[in-house]
Amino acid sequence: MILDLNEQAGRLLAFPIEWLRQRPFVVFVARQDVSRFLNFLARLRQVPATETAALELFINDRGVPVQLSIGSSHRGLDVIYRLAILDLSETKAIENQLKETLNNWFSLVENAPDTIMTVDRKARITFCNRPLWGYSTRALAGTTLTEFVSEIDRVKMEKCVAVAFEPGHSSTCEVKGANGDKERWYSFSFGPVQSHFKHAPTTTVTIRDITKHKRTEESLRASREQLREFAARLDGVREEERMRVAREIHDELGQALTILKMDLAWIMSKPQNRTHKKIKSMIAEVDQTIQKVRQIVTELRPSILDELGLSAAIEWQLSEFQERTGIRGIFESSSETLNLSRDVGAALFRVVQEGLTNVMRHAGATEVRIGIKSAKDVLSILIIDNGKGITRQQISNPKSFGIVGMKERVHRVGGQLNIYSSPGRGTRIEISTPLQ
Ligand SMILES: Nc1ncnc2c1ncn2[C@@H]1O[C@H](COP(=O)(O)OP(=O)(O)OP(=O)(O)O)[C@@H](O)[C@H]1O
Ligand SMILES: [Mg+2]
Repeated sequence: MILDLNEQAGRLLAFPIEWLRQRPFVVFVARQDVSRFLNFLARLRQVPATETAALELFINDRGVPVQLSIGSSHRGLDVIYRLAILDLSETKAIENQLKETLNNWFSLVENAPDTIMTVDRKARITFCNRPLWGYSTRALAGTTLTEFVSEIDRVKMEKCVAVAFEPGHSSTCEVKGANGDKERWYSFSFGPVQSHFKHAPTTTVTIRDITKHKRTEESLRASREQLREFAARLDGVREEERMRVAREIHDELGQALTILKMDLAWIMSKPQNRTHKKIKSMIAEVDQTIQKVRQIVTELRPSILDELGLSAAIEWQLSEFQERTGIRGIFESSSETLNLSRDVGAALFRVVQEGLTNVMRHAGATEVRIGIKSAKDVLSILIIDNGKGITRQQISNPKSFGIVGMKERVHRVGGQLNIYSSPGRGTRIEISTPLQ
């Protein structure tokens, strides 16, 4: 029989306190727990004590899990029980939710395509979702992840782990030859630890075998390297060939023409020659041809490049360009002599030539500006036109051989070439290369 109860108890049992007084409490105990409850009371009647039990009450047609603390004492011949009831329904709901989350997490981790571990600050493995490197998950637990990597990678990995334990940070390292298998590559992605865990004991690591990816990357790099070397050789050969042709034209044709001119002059010097006038025009023509030959020779291999250097050669090229195309050329240079090897000079000169050819052919510009600047150990060259501009697609199109060639040449001498442009606002080519 309930003698007295507090407000919370009334609320839990869902009846007015007055109504509950003098009613038997046992009517609220769920049927399956009634005998257990009565056994309790019987035990406590003999020996006054306090006991705790988890059982279910039945309130408003539903079961309510509670924790019951029952203490007994004697008052004369009667036994008085004191009940403290703790409603566990919310706790139970949270527990169920937690169980479900854990189940989901486990199935996620078990079915993940990668190896997943948790490690502590010292990289000691506390959990692993599957066997790895021939070790069972049980054998892996307790070992240190850094034991499995080579000496060289150990420090790298330790740093990576340390970073992952800074709240909000994650880190990745790629390692070759984990567990002594020199042929395989793995990527280790650590963390981040949960930000509300200031001193989180562990963080997660995802381990992925990236050997295939690395091999593809390596072979791609090798073939790119090969291609670059091949192009470099081709370039060298072409440059030599140009020089040879230039020398030949200069030596052979130039001399032949000069002799021809001298012969003509000699004939003309003879008195009363009727063909006097004709010969005079022939000499003029030969003069013009000599001029043209000279121009061809210089364009093939501007001797100015060898004699006066890159800056002067570019300036000369720009003035030629202006004369030929009517596009105004502005040259600005803040460096007099540049300490460049012959190859580098020739490569950069050809790049500028291609740049100018593009301006002439595609830009529809009225003005082109070339700037040369050397600061510290870097030489930069700018080619800026005020034409219609290039689109991003044109720049990155692998079939734009002119542009690809320019980039390749600059790369080969250790530099970089960037093109900036927006439609209708001209084009700006920036070349920068290290000065040795
Ligand atoms: N200065 C420029 N202004 C506007 N468009 C340009 C400029 N330079 C290049 N382009 C555009 O970019 C494209 C690619 O240039 P690229 O030099 O690679 O090829 P190309 O000049 O057409 O042919 P080539 O292989 O003979 O050089 C050109 O077709 C042109 O449409
Ligand atoms: Mg071109």
